Amino acid sequence: MATNFISLRELEQLASIKLDSNAYQYYRSGANEEITKKENIDAFQRIYLNPRVLRDVSKISTKTKILGHQIDLPIGIAPVAMLKLAHPLGEEVTAQLAHQWKVPFTLTTLSTLSQSEVAKHNKDGLRFQQLYIQKNRQLTEALVRKAEKEGFQGLVLTVDAPILGKREADEKQRFVLPPHLRLEILEELAKEANIQLQTVANNQGSGLLKFFAEQLDQTVNWNDIKWLRSITKVPIILKGIQCGADAKLALEHGVDAIWVSNHGGRQLDTVRSTVEMLPEIVAAAGSVEVYVDSGVRNGTDVYKCLALGAKCVFVGRPAIYSTAIGGREGLNKMFQILQSELVSTMQLMGVTSIQEIKSDGIVHRSKL
Ligand code: FNR
Repeated sequence: MATNFISLRELEQLASIKLDSNAYQYYRSGANEEITKKENIDAFQRIYLNPRVLRDVSKISTKTKILGHQIDLPIGIAPVAMLKLAHPLGEEVTAQLAHQWKVPFTLTTLSTLSQSEVAKHNKDGLRFQQLYIQKNRQLTEALVRKAEKEGFQGLVLTVDAPILGKREADEKQRFVLPPHLRLEILEELAKEANIQLQTVANNQGSGLLKFFAEQLDQTVNWNDIKWLRSITKVPIILKGIQCGADAKLALEHGVDAIWVSNHGGRQLDTVRSTVEMLPEIVAAAGSVEVYVDSGVRNGTDVYKCLALGAKCVFVGRPAIYSTAIGGREGLNKMFQILQSELVSTMQLMGVTSIQEIKSDGIVHRSKL
């Protein structure tokens, strides 16, 4: 059976069998030599757990709150591009399952399903819209307005991609968006903002991808955060913060949350693992919530991130791969595994609620 996996570590290999190499290499690849992609996973092994015993662990709660919203598990779905490349139902499945599991869902700008369709499937779920500040600010503003209208309760501004990282496997593969798929959000936006789509090759996906890459604005700086803040009241979450100094600036610019990420190792290669960046960022962030992604693959990883001060973790590739392998059932299995691993980690650590998870429960190998 396709959903026979028992750990998230199996997913990449299973996805390599299921997906064609165009899609698989696009999803799998990291930047350059993929050192950071590997580090994100290896780093968790350098952090040890310190269990406490003889505590009543018969009742465990994984409920917590982010940005004032109650969630059942501190594990959300990170924005990942073009999910219909993985499975015909793509974003429909991820939006639905996030609602069912009562966890946050983040929709990429490069979605193959429109914001209104996603909202329909995600119902009253907690959903965020990921965005970039594009050269044409009209486009960015149109995206924000549409997100507001469709009930997205957070704007995840990705700040680690003024240019796209060099993903060699992807480059070799010469990634193309199959002609039957549409970049729904970009298409809608371009139309609404009266962008001349004739400049985009035949209105087709690959042309839109080129248009998207051209819209990445290398002039974006902290003043643009002020601009974004000035045009919307929706909470702003900066995704891609990688050091304490930038976390401090984020704070000064009135952001509502910081999302520590190295884009799953897809942008700048040889940066640190995110779990090892966390302590300095949490320290700088003060009372602003911190989330983290990149390399989270099991319940102990989730626990370690929470112990280091993250309020929520997000997964990228595991959500893509499990959806590719088994659609709704596959993604459901991914959540079941992560939930049961987090619960058993909490029980074995002698902790019964998310709020009880503290940094004294972990120790980094370098401190031993
Ligand atoms: C991404 N990521 C990403 N991030 C973002 O802000 N906007 C996007 O459109 C995408 N697209 C995307 C596509 C693919 C194929 C991957 C693998 C990743 C980055 C993503 O949100 C997240 O930061 C990483 O995926 C987290 O690392 P793991 O969980 O994949 O190790």
